[in-house]
Amino acid sequence: QKEGYRFFMEKEIYEQSDVIADTLMGRLSDSEIIFDELDKELFNGINEIKLCACGTSYHSALSASYLFERYSKIKTSVEIASEFRYREPIMTQDTLFVVISQSGETADTLETLKMAKNAGLKTLVICNVDNSSMVRLADATILTRAGIEKGVASTKAFATQVTVFWMLTLYIAKLRNSLKEEEIIRQISLLREVPASVKVTDQMHEKLKRLSKRYLHGHGFFFIGRDIFFPLALEGALKLKEISYLHAEGYPSGEMKHGPIALADPELFTIALLPEHLHYEKSKSNVEELSARDSTICAISSIEFDKADDFIQISKCKDYMLEFFEMMIVVQLLSLEISVRLGNDVDMPRNLAKSVTVE
Ligand code: F6R
Repeated sequence: QKEGYRFFMEKEIYEQSDVIADTLMGRLSDSEIIFDELDKELFNGINEIKLCACGTSYHSALSASYLFERYSKIKTSVEIASEFRYREPIMTQDTLFVVISQSGETADTLETLKMAKNAGLKTLVICNVDNSSMVRLADATILTRAGIEKGVASTKAFATQVTVFWMLTLYIAKLRNSLKEEEIIRQISLLREVPASVKVTDQMHEKLKRLSKRYLHGHGFFFIGRDIFFPLALEGALKLKEISYLHAEGYPSGEMKHGPIALADPELFTIALLPEHLHYEKSKSNVEELSARDSTICAISSIEFDKADDFIQISKCKDYMLEFFEMMIVVQLLSLEISVRLGNDVDMPRNLAKSVTVE
């Protein structure tokens, strides 16, 4: 079933182009997003969106929060389910409560959905498993079409979640008139480019295999990025932790000087996400600060960066969201190759289960 791939995770990374295409299928017209499964009434009277999830699904929610505020112009907050359920949160009726889950069974996330329902909020689930507990409970569902995900480290579920979120922000933008028609049209054409932008090339994979050699020993990794690249940094760090057992943290680039930069030395590896189309100069100067303190830098960008010890070139493209998806592939593959070199079982990482149905 691995169809020639060494691990399910590897197969699933390669599948992302196809499953994103599936997730887009039938949902794009030239000028609007089509979600036949949604009743527009769900958004009536809504002034806030609250997103709630765990782990990788939480990272996709965090990514979405940037898009909801930027494109849908709607106040958005993001919650870690295991925290939210115990902190006596204030829930107002003008909030749409959205849970995100690959499995639809994660205990903490399910519990927050019950809380929101009990408080009388409208609820939506973004889920990969039809007829799961969350799908049965929520008022509305958007299914990601990632197919069965076997690797314990989630990859294609994350990719399809972000895709759905991007579409949903445009769908709401149209309802609320918060983006110009031509901008929606432009973004829909970008969405159509995502499947091609996440195709893994042999050249990229070989480069990451070679490069992984350098990153096996050291005292830790920082994945850094700004804006929506911060949740991607968190996700990159989580992938690496899960399957390589190396210590990795995701940080907002601008936060380094407030403490973490104290750790910088050649044994500290910084994976820097440097998108050309979003805060490039600011992010670059943050990386330069780390480089000046001798951290070993691996920069991912479409613009050559000479202060980096290693440089991973992504394609020149038109928009930061395409850069996001291409960098997602890079951080997933880099984690995979580091784990393989360390001799770990990528699909069965120690101490982890695919679905966390106990709290
Ligand atoms: C990480 C991973 C986990 C899950 C988390 C939530 O690779 O897979 O962090 O994302 O346990 O699971 P779901 O999305 O099924 O609710």
